[in-house]
Amino acid sequence: MITISEAHLSDVSAIKNVLSVTWQDTYRSFLSDSAIESVTSHWHAPQVLENEIERDSTFVGIARSGKDVVAMITAHENEDLIFVSRLYVLPSFQRRGIGITLLSASYSAFPMAKRVKLEVEEQNLVGLAFYRKLGFAEVDRTEDDVFGILLHSIVMEREIERNAA
Ligand SMILES: CC(C)(COP(=O)(O)OP(=O)(O)OC[C@H]1O[C@@H](n2cnc3c(N)ncnc32)[C@H](O)[C@@H]1OP(=O)(O)O)[C@@H](O)C(=O)NCCC(=O)NCCS
Repeated sequence: MITISEAHLSDVSAIKNVLSVTWQDTYRSFLSDSAIESVTSHWHAPQVLENEIERDSTFVGIARSGKDVVAMITAHENEDLIFVSRLYVLPSFQRRGIGITLLSASYSAFPMAKRVKLEVEEQNLVGLAFYRKLGFAEVDRTEDDVFGILLHSIVMEREIERNAA
């Protein structure tokens, strides 16, 4: 059974593992091993993840299968906008509805937010298929220098539909 919860500091090493395995799987066809290694050691450093978990304006959600952390989301709120900066599901747990469920959990964490925004690398066809299926539309393009490699990303956005209680 999959359970969703907010991450605690004690989850940091398990989250780091999810990020490391899923980053390899997602980006190794267009990023070098050294770029992936730099990202996982800098962007996913334990201190970075701990700071995010402790920050009030940031939601770090995890999905567990039994005791094991198998997916994570990082999202933060800025006025009425949620920005999803990470959504990673371990390859062996993809396509079971976990991505959708974690995204919904981020909407619940920020009940006043009206829109949600994120960036997807343009070669990440799985990520693009997922967000398009969920009704996200391209609003912009952006470039990021990832440890010497220029990545082109698609900025996507959609309104959040909330069920009237
Ligand atoms: C993108 C990602 C988060 C989706 O998570 P997931 O739990 O596998 O997705 P879900 O099971 O919730 O999928 C919901 C719907 O999205 C679409 N979708 C998901 N994965 C897809 C794929 N590989 N190909 C085509 N459509 C896909 C499907 O329509 C799916 O519904 P269905 O399975 O009933 O057909 C996951 O594949 C992942 O972690 N990828 C690597 C990291 C990444 O790309 N993150 C997003 C960019 S930062």
